[in-house]
Amino acid sequence: MASYVRLALFLILLCSPFLVDAVNRDNFKRCDQSSFCRRCRKIEPGKTPYQLLPDTLIQNESMITIDLFNKDTGVSYVVQLTSLKESTFRLHINEKNPLHPRYENEYALHDQPQITKLDSVEKTTESITVVKGENKAILYVNPFKIDLYSQGVLIISANARGLMRFEHLRTKPVRSEQGENAEGAEINNNTYPGDGADSDPGAWEENFKEHHDAKPFGPEAVAMDFSFPGSEHAYGVPEHADSLALQSTKSTDPYRLYNLDVFEYETNERMALYGAIPVLYAHGKERSSGVFWHNTAETWIDILSSADNNVVESIVNFVSGSTKKSQVDAYFMSESGVIDVFFMLGPKPLDVFKQYTVLTGTAPLPQMFALGYHQSRWNYNDQDDVATIAESFDTHDLPLEAMWLDIEYADNKKYFTWDSRKFPNPLEMVHNLTGKGRKLVVIIDPHIKRDNNYFLHNDATSFGYYIKNRDGKDYEGWCWPGSSSYLDFFDPKVIEYYVGLYNLDKFHGTTNDVYIWNDMNEPSVFNGPEITALKDLVHHGGWEHRDVHNINGHMYIRATYEALFRRSGGSLRPFVLTRSFFAGSQRYATMWTGDNMADWNHLRISYPMCLSVAISGMSFCGADVGGFFKNPDSELFIRWYQAGAWLPFFRQHSHIETKRREPWTFNEETTQIVREALRLRYSYLPLWYTLFREHEVNGLPVIRPLWAHYPLESEAFTIDDHLLLGDSLLVRPVFQSGATEVAVYFPGENKVTWYDIDTMQPYQKTGYIKIPVTIHKIPVFQRSGSIVPRKMRIRRSTVAMKNDPYTLIIIADSNGKASGNLYIDDETSFEYRHGKYLYVRITLDSNKITSTLIDKLASYETQSWLERIDVANPPQGIKSAQLESHSMGRVTLETTYNPHNNVLTIRKPAVNMGEEWTIELLH
Ligand code: GLC
Repeated sequence: MASYVRLALFLILLCSPFLVDAVNRDNFKRCDQSSFCRRCRKIEPGKTPYQLLPDTLIQNESMITIDLFNKDTGVSYVVQLTSLKESTFRLHINEKNPLHPRYENEYALHDQPQITKLDSVEKTTESITVVKGENKAILYVNPFKIDLYSQGVLIISANARGLMRFEHLRTKPVRSEQGENAEGAEINNNTYPGDGADSDPGAWEENFKEHHDAKPFGPEAVAMDFSFPGSEHAYGVPEHADSLALQSTKSTDPYRLYNLDVFEYETNERMALYGAIPVLYAHGKERSSGVFWHNTAETWIDILSSADNNVVESIVNFVSGSTKKSQVDAYFMSESGVIDVFFMLGPKPLDVFKQYTVLTGTAPLPQMFALGYHQSRWNYNDQDDVATIAESFDTHDLPLEAMWLDIEYADNKKYFTWDSRKFPNPLEMVHNLTGKGRKLVVIIDPHIKRDNNYFLHNDATSFGYYIKNRDGKDYEGWCWPGSSSYLDFFDPKVIEYYVGLYNLDKFHGTTNDVYIWNDMNEPSVFNGPEITALKDLVHHGGWEHRDVHNINGHMYIRATYEALFRRSGGSLRPFVLTRSFFAGSQRYATMWTGDNMADWNHLRISYPMCLSVAISGMSFCGADVGGFFKNPDSELFIRWYQAGAWLPFFRQHSHIETKRREPWTFNEETTQIVREALRLRYSYLPLWYTLFREHEVNGLPVIRPLWAHYPLESEAFTIDDHLLLGDSLLVRPVFQSGATEVAVYFPGENKVTWYDIDTMQPYQKTGYIKIPVTIHKIPVFQRSGSIVPRKMRIRRSTVAMKNDPYTLIIIADSNGKASGNLYIDDETSFEYRHGKYLYVRITLDSNKITSTLIDKLASYETQSWLERIDVANPPQGIKSAQLESHSMGRVTLETTYNPHNNVLTIRKPAVNMGEEWTIELLH
């Protein structure tokens, strides 16, 4: 071999780790490679061609309808503005006479939004003012713009920058004899010059790399800008591996929402990822508000902050009359569909989060096991491997809820079958697990192997259940099983068929204790454009894949949820894990952040990623603990467990080529620290469970950024390496190697004191304090004034802990008060929806601890009792305590006071958790 060839090979090898660990950007489009993004992004601000036609105004009780006219194209639109409950307005714009219907999604919203009566509608030649309570919308006639006010303050302005674009459907231009483009005559005549869409080279067909998009319907983009005067930051529009507070896109690509399987994704990126939730929140000290852009096509979002340019400032000044105010601007651009946008007027962060879940629903309470610890790997080799690993959790005294099987369990990746060599007796494997209160979770992917010996492929082919090419033939792509086709979950017949596949007599080797992991549902197509399906594929109802791409994964998990629900006759709560998601997916599945990497950046980014989906309705989020690609060292591994224990979904998972990394595979110290992290997680499960139930009822995220509860503290607006669990715990993991201290931000404007959960050391100052750390723990604090329920007897799984007693951790505030809630039910079934639960309010006030049932009509017979109460910062000089309850009468309880941590402990109240009781602290 010539020496220069050897040198070249050597250099390639040397560089390969770096080459391998980077995302291949060439596989994914930039905005300037996407025709519609290019078209929308080049619009100059301030020149909107749209104007309202006031004479066409029609009003009914909760809605106005009015025509909108585009002076450049002569095309008319219909604008509807509806008043909804919970301080929300809905704006809907569609063409008045579209050439053919435009796609309108019906699967993201959980119900028809609830309308409310308008108070008044006033019309002048310049504007129409719509009033509902303290909220008001002013629609300006020319140029068209909508300003939304609350309590007299301008909150959101739509089309204030004049970037709205609504490309009408048109016939393909024919080349005139002179060789110039001419549009269809019924739309374009000499009076109207057009919108320039046809002049973009990608308007009527588009190529990306070797892929061709036929675009039979031509340009059909919709776009709208939204300004948020007074806001300092914008959040939301997940999924991106980026900071929680959105960054300006002035000199970068916009944030992109297009569900994609991005191999080795990088952090601090606005590139698209697996999921898409087009909700954006704006927040400033005075207000929080939001827009939900209800569109399932590919979407790009530009963000500008006040600092970005003068144009923004002049609009602020114009709209608010003030001289200097902060403002965030967003510009949503979608490839097709209609403009359907919900304005959520806050005023506080928690109000907006709730307003969003009122539209898209909340997550149903998961089974308790789902909140415990999960062990996964691509792949556990065979059923003996599964049994050995599960047993090792017991030998090492580590709790475990479920073993997971990746794609290799199935016969040649034909889902709903088993590789009979490796898994000759799956039922036995399942029973081994369930005998110890554990579950099995198996993967089911949406690609179907094109194999004539596969019943599912044969059924789907003969019944016509696959997504189609433009020519009507079954679409074929390449995925894990090789040549594959994809079931069309927009077809109700396909859903029915698929749901049936989960019947226990159909899916052999499974029981009601086998749950489901849906992956690759963007869908991932290895040989497709951007590793996904062609946009011109055709779904049920004739809709192009282009129209529905971002909700494809959602349709899949919706069917899986239904399948698991029906499989148990509606008695057990389904558990489905998904990689792809859309607005509303919280109703069906838990999500995880996909194929991350065993490095510190990916550990760090798991917090903003989960916080971002959590405020966007999907609280049940986690990241592969340890990192999917590559091998973590023991320090990173430990820190990942410690951080992962405070994210809602807690699962270790790794790539097939990684080293084994069960918690005991490093060394004794690592196993011990991981054990501590797991035990800590389990001890707080009563709190997690209570928060998930409260989320289901009130829509509040389970994990929250600091500004959710401390909306006035500007310093906290960009903090995304801390989280609040509910409103009572503050968590700040270690995200750096070799850390001996971390800077923790303590919110609360000096009114709140935070107590270290291990030492009960109080921290009172608001702002950053450096907290020393060892490898054994990360900083976690409980808020003064809160009461947190725990279970301190950690066992092998949550099933074993179900009847265990509770411990209450009370932190008295400076007035000697505290409060918190506890929710208890059977942890598995839907009986709670029929009143079989306990929802308890516990308070400390005037030296009395009281437990009262919040929902008096609900009841549940629990065997759990109260084992212990710790009161930090207790009233001084307490000598004993007296319990009083219906069944126990009056009982004097032993108390001990620890002067070192200032904690009063009440041992063994022993009262059943289902009873109301009081404990008086006596001097
Ligand atoms: C995808 C998933 C990953 C899984 C693998 C094999 O990459 O994101 O979690 O292990 O597919 O199924």
